[in-house]
Amino acid sequence: MSLAKLAIHQFRNINSAELNFNRKINLIVGANGSGKTSLLEAIHFLGLGRSFRTHLTNRVIAHDHKEFILYSEFNNEGMSVPVGLQKSKTGDTLLKINGSHAKKLAALTQYLPLQLITPESYALLSGSPKNRRAFLDWGVFYHEPLFYNNWARIKRLLKQRNAALKQCKTYNELQVWDNELCLLSDEISRQRQAYFDLLIPLINQTIADFLPDFSITSQFFCGWDKNNKSLQDYLTANFNRDKQLGYTTAGPQKADIRFKINGLPVNDVLSRGQLKLLVYALRLAQGLFLNSFNNKQCVFLIDDFSSELDQNRQQILAKHISNSDAQVFISVIEKNDIETLFGQERTVFHVEHGKITVE
Ligand SMILES: Nc1ncnc2c1ncn2[C@@H]1O[C@H](COP(=O)(O)OP(=O)(O)OP(=O)(O)O)[C@@H](O)[C@H]1O
Ligand SMILES: [Mg+2]
Repeated sequence: MSLAKLAIHQFRNINSAELNFNRKINLIVGANGSGKTSLLEAIHFLGLGRSFRTHLTNRVIAHDHKEFILYSEFNNEGMSVPVGLQKSKTGDTLLKINGSHAKKLAALTQYLPLQLITPESYALLSGSPKNRRAFLDWGVFYHEPLFYNNWARIKRLLKQRNAALKQCKTYNELQVWDNELCLLSDEISRQRQAYFDLLIPLINQTIADFLPDFSITSQFFCGWDKNNKSLQDYLTANFNRDKQLGYTTAGPQKADIRFKINGLPVNDVLSRGQLKLLVYALRLAQGLFLNSFNNKQCVFLIDDFSSELDQNRQQILAKHISNSDAQVFISVIEKNDIETLFGQERTVFHVEHGKITVE
């Protein structure tokens, strides 16, 4: 899976661009404010139907324009799939995949499995569990065909349950939601755990190269202490507390993965650069997993490659990226810094005031 072509219209400061991408390495070079992140953002929009910088579509539509338009050609197992996406300030979305209108942006995720790494990516480890759930679920989504529907169903059930919590008087009134919720929660947790168990050896393999001086352990937490009680027991026991808080305090919506060094959370031990290397290790491991277990290729978007990494670490990283089967888009300010790190199979794009030229 890869992105072969992309035409951009009125997206941030990119007024118009037509690009043919390299199947392997694409280097995006330009000064501050030239439009490098905007190009990655446009690709992200095609992969996931949203930006990674804002949830307000109007912010990404070029000033003084009513809509942005992206036309692209995905390469999916040797087949070319045209995809067009238009979003306008009035809130209308037009998505066409292979000539047919698609109703949901979620339809895009099947075509372009994206992994994003930005200077803020250390937040995966230092930020809230929500980030780590999103990381984990990205992989489970591609690994377990039923995961997406189960998870969507759980989210709806929790919404209804939380609304009912505020109004009900006794726990019995919640039982209708909880029967299904508990069944699905066990299933989701099983799928997450199974995926994570398979991912750990790949993570350890990449960590050994990136952070050889540390012994890092990882553990999946399903959202309630499974050793002691079933989720049903928790929901019954926590009824008064949940009612007071107005939301459900145990369940798969609280799942997390915990990375530790000598029993301490990694973000209390590692430096910023080291945290970023660990994030790279985690995301590269997911790319390897997708390739070896799911027979799909991952697309990496790496914004500001050189930030916080010394030459030696950049070299190790570039080697891993080049050896993977993934298509990669890498933004840098200075080309000299990294051009030699990547092999011959690459294309260099120069960005200047929103204009993109190929070298
Ligand atoms: N909706 C918009 N319409 C037009 N221009 C915009 C819009 N939103 C942001 N910009 C401008 O687009 C330019 C490119 O921003 P971008 O973040 O892509 O730069 P960059 O090349 O990644 O820079 P840096 O190296 O500093 O990260 C900026 O000058 C920004 O002010
Ligand atoms: Mg940028």
